[in-house]
Amino acid sequence: MAKGKFITFEGGEGAGKSTQVGLLAAALRGTGRRVLETREPGGSKGAEQIRELLVHGEVGRWDGTTEALLHFAARREHLVHTVFPALEAGTWVLSDRFADSTMAYQGYGHDLGPGPIEALYALVVGEFRPDLTLILDLPVDQGLRRAAGRREGGDRYERMNGGFHERLRQGFLEIARGDPARCVVIDASGGVEQVHKAVCAKVIRHLGIDLP
Ligand SMILES: Nc1ncnc2c1ncn2[C@@H]1O[C@H](COP(=O)(O)OP(=O)(O)OP(=O)(O)O)[C@@H](O)[C@H]1O
Ligand SMILES: [Mg+2]
Repeated sequence: MAKGKFITFEGGEGAGKSTQVGLLAAALRGTGRRVLETREPGGSKGAEQIRELLVHGEVGRWDGTTEALLHFAARREHLVHTVFPALEAGTWVLSDRFADSTMAYQGYGHDLGPGPIEALYALVVGEFRPDLTLILDLPVDQGLRRAAGRREGGDRYERMNGGFHERLRQGFLEIARGDPARCVVIDASGGVEQVHKAVCAKVIRHLGIDLP
């Protein structure tokens, strides 16, 4: 059986990742494909437990290194228990965030730099890469406004300062520039349907499939 494809959605808070994962999953299912929607941190029992440590509590409770280690521990659980078995079974896997978020948030946002994140990636993930990464890009203010409209208070990351969010936006753009074969940047400032059309166009072009 052909392996499934692994597509990751990246971008800052409120960029529309979860919304677009759902819409692309529906479009792919419409073509008869089996699709798994998953997320990071999380996506398996152990990884969801680690997620709780990351999204709740004081903004400063972990330093950048500890945070990166927790994210990669969760990622290992997610890959081994959810992503790899699904791909082997021919299921397409759409992940709401993956390793580029760790590079952007801990590498660029927390100034850890790319080196330690790349080393952890090699240890935990090895040669495996997403088939396609869609980076949803929009101005920081607009994203935080969207995220704030969705729920009260905001999680631990949403409460970090504006400079942090700007660094991670630039981090995502830098990642895309460095790996153009895997990553595409999508202007996420338009309406939901407009962004969905742009997502489908990139999937069709990069993965050579038909979508309605
Ligand atoms: N293109 C869009 N235009 C306007 N509002 C949008 C758009 N896409 C999503 N939204 C709304 O903005 C909010 C955030 O969207 P969503 O939850 O999909 O973003 P996210 O990137 O998953 O956020 P987070 O990083 O916080 O998980 C939601 O209320 C959603 O309905
Ligand atoms: Mg989301």
